Amino acid sequence: MKPARIEYRIAGKSYEVIAGEHETVLDCALRNSIPAPYSCMEGVCSSCTALVLEGEVEDFVGHAPIEARVQTCQMRIKPGCPKLILDYER
Ligand code: FES
Repeated sequence: MKPARIEYRIAGKSYEVIAGEHETVLDCALRNSIPAPYSCMEGVCSSCTALVLEGEVEDFVGHAPIEARVQTCQMRIKPGCPKLILDYER
Protein backbone atom coordinates (compact mmCIF):
# COMPACT_ATOMS: atom_id res chain seq x y z
CA MET A 1 0.00 0.00 0.00
CA LYS A 2 1.29 3.46 -0.86
CA PRO A 3 2.00 5.65 2.16
CA ALA A 4 -0.62 8.25 2.93
CA ARG A 5 0.27 11.85 2.26
CA ILE A 6 -0.76 15.07 3.92
CA GLU A 7 -0.77 18.42 2.15
CA TYR A 8 -0.74 21.51 4.36
CA ARG A 9 -1.76 24.86 2.84
CA ILE A 10 -0.45 27.63 5.03
CA ALA A 11 0.03 31.33 4.24
CA GLY A 12 -0.06 30.88 0.47
CA LYS A 13 2.37 27.93 0.44
CA SER A 14 1.73 24.23 0.31
CA TYR A 15 3.78 21.46 1.89
CA GLU A 16 3.26 17.79 1.11
CA VAL A 17 4.70 15.03 3.28
CA ILE A 18 4.22 11.36 4.09
CA ALA A 19 1.96 10.81 7.09
CA GLY A 20 3.22 8.82 10.07
CA GLU A 21 1.01 5.89 11.03
CA HIS A 22 -0.09 6.91 14.51
CA GLU A 23 0.88 10.55 14.78
CA THR A 24 -1.50 13.46 14.82
CA VAL A 25 -1.75 15.78 11.83
CA LEU A 26 -0.03 18.47 13.90
CA ASP A 27 2.80 16.16 15.02
CA CYS A 28 3.39 15.19 11.38
CA ALA A 29 3.70 18.86 10.47
CA LEU A 30 6.13 19.59 13.31
CA ARG A 31 8.24 16.51 12.53
CA ASN A 32 8.64 17.85 8.99
CA SER A 33 9.36 21.44 10.10
CA ILE A 34 6.15 22.75 8.55
CA PRO A 35 5.08 26.07 10.11
CA ALA A 36 1.62 24.91 11.20
CA PRO A 37 0.09 27.06 13.95
CA TYR A 38 -0.45 25.55 17.40
CA SER A 39 -0.26 26.33 21.09
CA CYS A 40 -1.70 24.01 23.76
CA MET A 41 -1.49 20.68 21.86
CA GLU A 42 -4.36 19.48 24.07
CA GLY A 43 -7.48 20.34 22.08
CA VAL A 44 -8.27 23.46 24.11
CA CYS A 45 -7.07 26.62 22.33
CA SER A 46 -8.14 25.94 18.69
CA SER A 47 -5.04 27.69 17.33
CA CYS A 48 -4.23 24.53 15.31
CA THR A 49 -7.59 24.47 13.53
CA ALA A 50 -7.65 23.79 9.79
CA LEU A 51 -10.29 23.05 7.18
CA VAL A 52 -10.26 19.56 5.64
CA LEU A 53 -10.48 20.09 1.86
CA GLU A 54 -9.93 16.46 0.89
CA GLY A 55 -9.56 13.16 2.72
CA GLU A 56 -10.68 11.97 6.14
CA VAL A 57 -9.45 12.30 9.70
CA GLU A 58 -10.36 10.66 12.99
CA ASP A 59 -9.68 11.30 16.65
CA PHE A 60 -7.72 9.08 19.06
CA VAL A 61 -10.62 6.64 19.49
CA GLY A 62 -11.52 6.47 15.80
CA HIS A 63 -14.40 8.94 15.72
CA ALA A 64 -14.80 11.18 12.68
CA PRO A 65 -15.19 14.91 13.41
CA ILE A 66 -18.63 16.48 13.05
CA GLU A 67 -17.36 19.55 11.20
CA ALA A 68 -14.89 20.05 8.34
CA ARG A 69 -12.84 22.40 10.53
CA VAL A 70 -10.74 20.26 12.85
CA GLN A 71 -8.21 20.69 15.63
CA THR A 72 -5.16 19.13 14.04
CA CYS A 73 -3.54 18.33 17.40
CA GLN A 74 -6.41 15.95 18.13
CA MET A 75 -6.77 14.29 14.72
CA ARG A 76 -4.82 11.86 12.60
CA ILE A 77 -5.36 10.76 9.02
CA LYS A 78 -7.93 7.98 8.85
CA PRO A 79 -6.35 4.58 8.10
CA GLY A 80 -6.84 3.77 4.42
CA CYS A 81 -7.22 7.41 3.40
CA PRO A 82 -4.58 8.01 0.68
CA LYS A 83 -4.35 11.78 0.95
CA LEU A 84 -5.42 14.57 3.24
CA ILE A 85 -5.46 18.23 2.22
CA LEU A 86 -5.78 20.89 4.91
CA ASP A 87 -6.26 24.62 4.50
CA TYR A 88 -5.25 26.80 7.45
CA GLU A 89 -6.54 30.07 5.94
CA ARG A 90 -10.28 29.47 5.79
S1 FES B 1 -3.01 23.33 19.69
FE1 FES B 1 -4.58 23.99 21.03
S2 FES B 1 -6.34 22.99 20.26
FE2 FES B 1 -4.73 22.18 19.04
